[in-house]
Amino acid sequence: MKSVLLLVVPFMVALLFVPQKEHNTCRSYFGYFNTFFSSDCYYNPDIDDDILGIIQRHVGVHETHEVQTEDGYLLTLFRIPRQNPKGVIFFQHSLATDARTWISQYNESVAFLFWRAGYDVWLGNTRGNHFCKKHVSLDPTEATFWNFTFHEIGYYDNHASIKYVKEHTGGSKIIYVGYSLGATSGTVYASIRDKDAADSVKLMVLMTPTSHSQFNCTSFLKYPFFIFYNLQGIVNFTDPLFVVNRQDAWYVKIVRFLATHFSCKKCVLYFLHLFFGSSKYDIEPDLINMFIRVHGSEYPLKITYHYYQVYAVDGKFRRYHYGEERNLLLYGDKEPTPYPLENIKVPVYIMHGENDNLDCPDAAEKLYNMLPKNTTIYGKLMVEGYNHLDFSHGRHRNEKVYSKILQLLDKINLND
Ligand SMILES: *[C@@H]1O[C@H](CO)[C@@H](O)[C@H](O)[C@H]1NC(C)=O
Ligand SMILES: *[C@@H]1O[C@H](CO)[C@@H](O)[C@H](O)[C@H]1NC(C)=O
Ligand SMILES: *[C@@H]1O[C@H](CO)[C@@H](O)[C@H](O)[C@H]1NC(C)=O
Ligand SMILES: *[C@@H]1O[C@H](CO)[C@@H](O)[C@H](O)[C@H]1NC(C)=O
Ligand SMILES: *[C@@H]1O[C@H](CO)[C@@H](O)[C@H](O)[C@H]1NC(C)=O
Repeated sequence: MKSVLLLVVPFMVALLFVPQKEHNTCRSYFGYFNTFFSSDCYYNPDIDDDILGIIQRHVGVHETHEVQTEDGYLLTLFRIPRQNPKGVIFFQHSLATDARTWISQYNESVAFLFWRAGYDVWLGNTRGNHFCKKHVSLDPTEATFWNFTFHEIGYYDNHASIKYVKEHTGGSKIIYVGYSLGATSGTVYASIRDKDAADSVKLMVLMTPTSHSQFNCTSFLKYPFFIFYNLQGIVNFTDPLFVVNRQDAWYVKIVRFLATHFSCKKCVLYFLHLFFGSSKYDIEPDLINMFIRVHGSEYPLKITYHYYQVYAVDGKFRRYHYGEERNLLLYGDKEPTPYPLENIKVPVYIMHGENDNLDCPDAAEKLYNMLPKNTTIYGKLMVEGYNHLDFSHGRHRNEKVYSKILQLLDKINLND
């Protein structure tokens, strides 16, 4: 009996970590247990390629731009250019990832969909991510480089990027599509740079905006947000400028190795459900390795602390809470300044998921109701059965989300 176990157990363990190099993509979750022999598995060059290689293979044209923010960060923008476009569209990514979000669905990627539909497509990157490690005077090894939250991303990065895109495309207003962190920072930008946003943006699409959530919207695991986002913070819990996802850290390497090579991809999915909500339209098996790959961008813990403050206090969407003394110095008040949503002038369209545990339907509703009435002319959409992650990699995302945006854009006159 013992010897049988001695043989079987290592075999079972080995099976859980089948090398997945030659056949890195499977059409079924079961296929990942046997990538060599399963007819469901094949080699997908996108998984090993960089962003420009991927755009080159599927579309054939791309440009790379660099823009400087008012506070000295140098951001990389990617463009899939189009002559005489129907409109100019700018995508801003979510947390722990970067512009690759929009090209990580192979030939049916979000960016390609809009490009094929006739749009000039720009992909934003925020400070500190995989493509943005430059600053005029600071170095990413200095803590001060990482001293930011969604506030600075909204106030500086979105401002500089949108201004640049508008100026480089003939000066017409552009369309902004922000997902999760990109939607939160979009809301920051639209509220405190309200005139600028109204002059530059024709429509702001906020997908899962995550700005008024509270713990009670995470239904079955009460504090998943806190636990998940602070796992690495436990290493140095006191330091908000701690860099999460640092690619050279040993524990990040281990987690990434496990996530990439673990054969039970469904287990990865169920793990994600705990934090982002269950889903009727889970990430397609083909896309799971790509999903893992593009979620490796660095960010400071301060961003999740800021979200945590929104969650833990009372769902108030306001600036970073430093403690009464420093608040008084920075904001002139013991309490952090709320974002003036009532100032928003740019038309907003909110999309959120029915099963989202991070930005629960109540929270999205609350944001919507706080917007001035004339900015909500295009309404909102709750996507049936979707969780937080499905917006980028869930099944039927093109029908359920992106074709809806295209239809909306067709209704709006984009040429003024
Ligand atoms: C993408 O590739 C798949 C498989 O080759 C094909 O079935 C599908 O039609 C392609 N989609 C587009 C938009 O080209
Ligand atoms: C981070 O920014 C805050 C607010 O501007 C400032 O008070 C603090 O000193 C900064 N910390 C570092 C390490 O740069
Ligand atoms: C944790 O962060 C604090 C504040 O920045 C710093 O003083 C301390 O040295 C850090 N501890 C470790 C173990 O890195
Ligand atoms: C919405 O209404 C307010 C108050 O009447 C006005 O100041 C603002 O310019 C309007 N915004 C738009 C986008 O029409
Ligand atoms: C959370 O619960 C509190 C108290 O029960 C309630 O006042 C608040 O509206 C709830 N928030 C959300 C977003 O559901």
